[in-house]
Amino acid sequence: MMFGHELIVAHDLSGTDGLLLEIGSERGGGSTFILAMLAKAQGRPFVSVDIDINQTAKAMRLVVLAGKGEAMCCDGVKYVESLFVPIVAVYCDAFDIVGARTILRYGKGYEVRGQEFTEEACHSFYLNLAKAIIPNLVPDGVVCFDDTVNNKGQWQGKGAVAVPWLLENGFEILKSFTVDVTTCSGGVLLRHERL
Ligand SMILES: C[S@@+](CC[C@H](N)C(=O)[O-])C[C@H]1O[C@@H](n2cnc3c(N)ncnc32)[C@H](O)[C@@H]1O
Repeated sequence: MMFGHELIVAHDLSGTDGLLLEIGSERGGGSTFILAMLAKAQGRPFVSVDIDINQTAKAMRLVVLAGKGEAMCCDGVKYVESLFVPIVAVYCDAFDIVGARTILRYGKGYEVRGQEFTEEACHSFYLNLAKAIIPNLVPDGVVCFDDTVNNKGQWQGKGAVAVPWLLENGFEILKSFTVDVTTCSGGVLLRHERL
């Protein structure tokens, strides 16, 4: 596996109703089109959310092409907090990991939007996202983090704080993969143990 969204594609969600949600729209990984096609095949609603209007415009074209879903321009946490619908799966791939290369490539966008672009802000974004997802997650619903790896027992990357928090709050890891720990290239899929 190369991208976190592949964990959702490979996981059997058939028979479980609910919204498929992507936080962080297509930017080279192919996730929006693939998840929209998955939602279409499973006959469920799909929404892709991004804070950057240019990304949302791109995502809108992709959901039209797929013939399924909607694209929304909003902060991911605020969007999920505003939802009162059953959610079956969430692909968490928004706030970028902070590193020299990402600051160079994407830092300006965060600055223009007035978003603090620090490792702490990244980790608390995903923690708040996880907390916002839980009230609407259906039994057997799953949460997936991209760019998250376990390095010698330590969670690193986007889900560095959110994954341990979910594990302390009744979630279990269904599957994970690691491509490269040095770049946090990998992903993890979690489900609530008691749901
Ligand atoms: C890694 S890219 C998403 C890649 C995409 N999932 C793919 O596979 O191609 C991260 C995206 O998150 C968006 N983003 C950053 N902060 C965000 C926030 N607070 N809420 C929603 N989206 C955010 C960025 O604009 C960017 O488009």
